[in-house]
Formats: sequence, structure tokens, C-alpha cells
Amino acid sequence: MQRMTSSAIRDLLKYTLQPGMISFAGGMPAPELFPLERFREAANRVLAEPASGRSALQYGITEGFVPLREMIVRHAARYGLQAGLENVLITSGSQQALDLIGKLLIGRADRVLVEAPTYLGALQAFDAYEAEYLALPADEAGLAPEALAAALERRPKFMYLLPNFQNPSGATWSLARRQAAVGLAAAHGIPIVEDDPYGQLRYEGGHLPSLMRLDRAASGTNVLYLSTFSKTLAPGVRLGWIIGPAEVIARLVQLKQSTDLHTSGFVQQVIYEVARGGFLDEHIRQLREAYGTRRDVMLEALRTFLPPEATWTHPEGGLFLWLRLPDGLDCHGLLTAALEQQVAFVPGTAFFADRDAGRRFCRLNFSNAQPEQIWEGIRRLGRAVEAQMAAAASPVPEPA
Ligand SMILES: Cc1ncc(COP(=O)(O)O)c(C=O)c1O
Repeated sequence: MQRMTSSAIRDLLKYTLQPGMISFAGGMPAPELFPLERFREAANRVLAEPASGRSALQYGITEGFVPLREMIVRHAARYGLQAGLENVLITSGSQQALDLIGKLLIGRADRVLVEAPTYLGALQAFDAYEAEYLALPADEAGLAPEALAAALERRPKFMYLLPNFQNPSGATWSLARRQAAVGLAAAHGIPIVEDDPYGQLRYEGGHLPSLMRLDRAASGTNVLYLSTFSKTLAPGVRLGWIIGPAEVIARLVQLKQSTDLHTSGFVQQVIYEVARGGFLDEHIRQLREAYGTRRDVMLEALRTFLPPEATWTHPEGGLFLWLRLPDGLDCHGLLTAALEQQVAFVPGTAFFADRDAGRRFCRLNFSNAQPEQIWEGIRRLGRAVEAQMAAAASPVPEPA
């Protein structure tokens, strides 16, 4: 427990709920786009039939509701990934998948190779199993093969990678980097945990193959693939999934049994009813349009209100961009000033295994606030940055 810290994002929630606050902090979808009516109809349909209603309310199998797993198998096949039912485990969100993988793979003081920065929830999950980290600096196209090859010589237990619209940086791995990572993993016999909650939310450019697909194409069984309905339907349902080799899934099933027996059967049946018949595809098309616009508004607002010394990423999809502050500015100092201006973000330090790194960075979410709020929030952030720059240029003298 001494190693565990509370999530910076969960801690920020108490500020972000204040009236008037514009929050770029959470990784939250737009609540006004939740398909409430479809959920209501789906829940009614599940409960209207005695057979489906009773099975939804009864204990279920740990692996998950079969029609939902079949739907996931069909969806994976559309992206060139051949899987069977035995390869799919439903989890209570991807966060549980990360915890189960930590439980399965991490022994005390084992090293996990992570990108720097990386998803802070994964660090939290792996910290509970006393992981050590090999944190490799990533650029806008992922991890460089040379650095990866050198790090794999140090024999991490597995690599945790986010190739699509990374949380927090928004970066997308190039095809060449994906191929190199899969090849190196196979050559060193080191598994990859591929976390892909955002892959469907692309606003420009073409879809790139998952690491799992590239690995399978080379007859590998080296990748565990994670995804979730949190960003495409609703995070409150807590529904995600793992695709992996059958023997690994069987072990994860045993670990899940000791955790929660199974993910809510009622929720699984409702989500199946919500998603079926092409609804999810159509809904995702709407999200892409709305979030693509919000991303563009944030990019334009940053160009308008931030000083030229600040830089930021241009994400092709997902929910975040990554702001690099001008020389001498610190994200924690800026957060204090920003909260006074009623705008919130997550300080970069939260996303580094070495929590002292990342002081120059801020993660900005663009899916949750409406376009006009995004514009106003970045205007306020720009003011806070300029005030901090002025303070850094003329520091208050130390008392004698
Ligand atoms: C990269 C990544 N993995 C996992 C999760 C957890 O998702 P879920 O809501 O499915 O637990 C998130 C949520 O933001 C995420 O960004």
C-alpha cells in the first residue's frame, strides 16, 4: 500500500464539479451524446421476455454473455483479426483487464516496459503488484525500434503499449513502428499488452492494423488485446473485453472468478441489445463527427490563445492532446493558477512511472466540454500561462 497513490484525475474531480468550472481533466465522453432512449428500449427488451429477463438477473458464466462475445468476435474479424469465443473474456471495464493482467503476469519486482508518458490507470493497476518500470520516452510515432530493442535485452515481463491516440499524448504509432515492436516482441519472447480504447474514434487518416493483427499474421500468439465500450457507448456500464490466446484467457477467467465471479449479466445483455443491428456503428459515426469538431476547436483555440513558446500534439483521434509548456513553467503551478481561472487539466507528472518527469506537460481532454466551452476554457488557460510566464520572468526576491 505504501506504493499506491490516488489517481490525480479522481482527486481533481472535486474541483471539476464546481459550478462554472470548465474541465479538460477527465477522459470523459460527452454526456449529452449518450444514447439514453436506446438504453431505455434495450433494458425494456431484456426484461420484457421472461427468458432473457431471468437469465440477465441470474448468475452467469465468468467468460461473459455468449451473444456479446460473438459480436466482439465478428467485430474483430472486420479488422482482420480471427478469434473464436474461447479467445474473448468480458471484463468490468478495461481497468479490470489491466488489474487481472497485473495479477497474472507481475511477480514482485518484475519489470513492465511502458511508454513515457503512459495511461496512469495502468500504472496504478500494476503498482498494486509491485511492478518496476522500464519507461521508454515515446515520440509522436510511438517507440523507436532501437530503444525498444535495447530495453528488451533487460527482459521486462511484458510491454504495455497504446498504439492508437495514446492516453495522454494523443500519439499514434506508425505502421513501421508497429511492425518493429511486434517483430522484436516475438524475437525476444516478450508479450505485448495492447490497450485500445480509442481505436474506433478516428477523425482523420486511415485505420492502422492492431499489434495483435500484425502478430497473428506472423503466426504469433504474443499479444493480449484490450478494448472497452466506455468511450464508444458509456463508461458507467463498466464493460470491456480482452482478446488473447485461449490458454491465457482460461487463466484470466480463474483470476476473474476470485475478483467478481463475472461482469454484470444484466449490463452485458443490455449492451448487446443497444449495440446490435448496426446501432453502435452509426453511433460511433456521430461521435467521430462531434469529437472531431471539438478537437479542431481546441486546436484553433490553442493557436489563438497560447503563446508561441507552447507546443501541442495534433491527435488523429481519441480524446486528448498533450500540451508542452514554455521553458521554466511547471504544470502544478499552472494548475493552481488555472483552477483560479476556473479551468482544469491533468498535470503531466501523473502519466510517468517516474512521477517527477513530465512537469512541463498538461493533458487536455476535448470530448467532454461543448465547443463554446472549449474555446472559453483555452482562453482562460492562455491567461493562466501568460501570468505564469510573467511570474517566471520576474521572480519574487527571497526575503533576506
Ligand atoms: C488507455 C486506457 N485504458 C483503459 C482505460 C479504462 O477504461 P474502462 O472505462 O474500460 O475501464 C482508459 C480510460 O480512460 C484508458 O484511457
